[in-house]
Amino acid sequence: MLSAVSIALAAGLIVGWIYVIWRNLELSRRVAQNTWLLVAGVLSLVTIIVVLVLFAVFLAREIREVRRQTSFLDSVTHELRSPLASLRLCLETLERSDLAPERAAELRRMMLDDVDRLEAFVDDILEASQAGHADRVRSIGDVELSEVVARAVRTACRRYHLDPEIVTVDVPPGSRVRADPTGLEIVLRNLVDNAIKYSEGTPRITVVARPVGDRHVEILVEDQGIGIARSDLRRIFERFYRVPEEAVRARRGTGLGLFVVQSLAHAMGGRLRVESEGPGKGTRVRLRLPRARPADAEPRPSHG
Ligand SMILES: Nc1ncnc2c1ncn2[C@@H]1O[C@H](COP(=O)(O)OP(=O)(O)O)[C@@H](O)[C@H]1O
Ligand SMILES: [Mg+2]
Repeated sequence: MLSAVSIALAAGLIVGWIYVIWRNLELSRRVAQNTWLLVAGVLSLVTIIVVLVLFAVFLAREIREVRRQTSFLDSVTHELRSPLASLRLCLETLERSDLAPERAAELRRMMLDDVDRLEAFVDDILEASQAGHADRVRSIGDVELSEVVARAVRTACRRYHLDPEIVTVDVPPGSRVRADPTGLEIVLRNLVDNAIKYSEGTPRITVVARPVGDRHVEILVEDQGIGIARSDLRRIFERFYRVPEEAVRARRGTGLGLFVVQSLAHAMGGRLRVESEGPGKGTRVRLRLPRARPADAEPRPSHG
């Protein structure tokens, strides 16, 4: 607001000054001297305006970042508090001597869930803090896609106590990409995790891999869930960004997943696109990675 006012002021100044000097120019006919004055004035005011605009942009960015960090801190507090509170309650209940063994077993399962949740949360934060580092992706090599997909689906489903069978996987055996296996698994786990989390009822999810031309493979992760509004599609890769909808707020999350996913995908020379027809219409993520070429391993046969 302040910078908008100062930009308007500076713009008013420049116009006023040009006007005054122009009048003066006509009156006094000392053309050369006045023109120089005019040019110098215009130049310095343009400089001032440019600086102010830059300042305004910078300020707006900082304000956005602070807002995001605040909402991140809120979710951190929640993500840490609620499993801890639950763990404490379980422990206190376990102390009671009249507890039935089945009930004790159930409590232990709940405690394991809470520990899983805390662990996943800490992993998210660690991965995000490493994202963007140059040595983020260490071992790029040929990766058999079907194995990594299967592992990622299993891990994501386990977190929601779902049968991995709910995810329809169509990855032809022998689909190989150039990627970092650990990084790729984190990427796929996050995408399947989102597909499950942002679905209503029993999730219907497909993971499909297809060659694109000779040089790429495209992996599609598709769900029939709550979808994403067009205006949010550009922002969901930002650190800490979560769509400000009740349906999203009601689900746990930090807004770090897609930030990590994108930074890993780029580090592996991949490309990522998220598509959705809008709220309620499901979401499709397209991940394009370089295809592993047999020519990398074997000498290229010479064609006559
Ligand atoms: N499959 C999806 N369906 C609907 N919304 C999604 C999906 N994946 C991501 N989003 C939106 O993008 C936001 C950012 O995703 P992410 O970075 O993974 O954060 P988190 O899952 O922790 O909220 C989510 O909060 C959600 O609003
Ligand atoms: Mg996520």
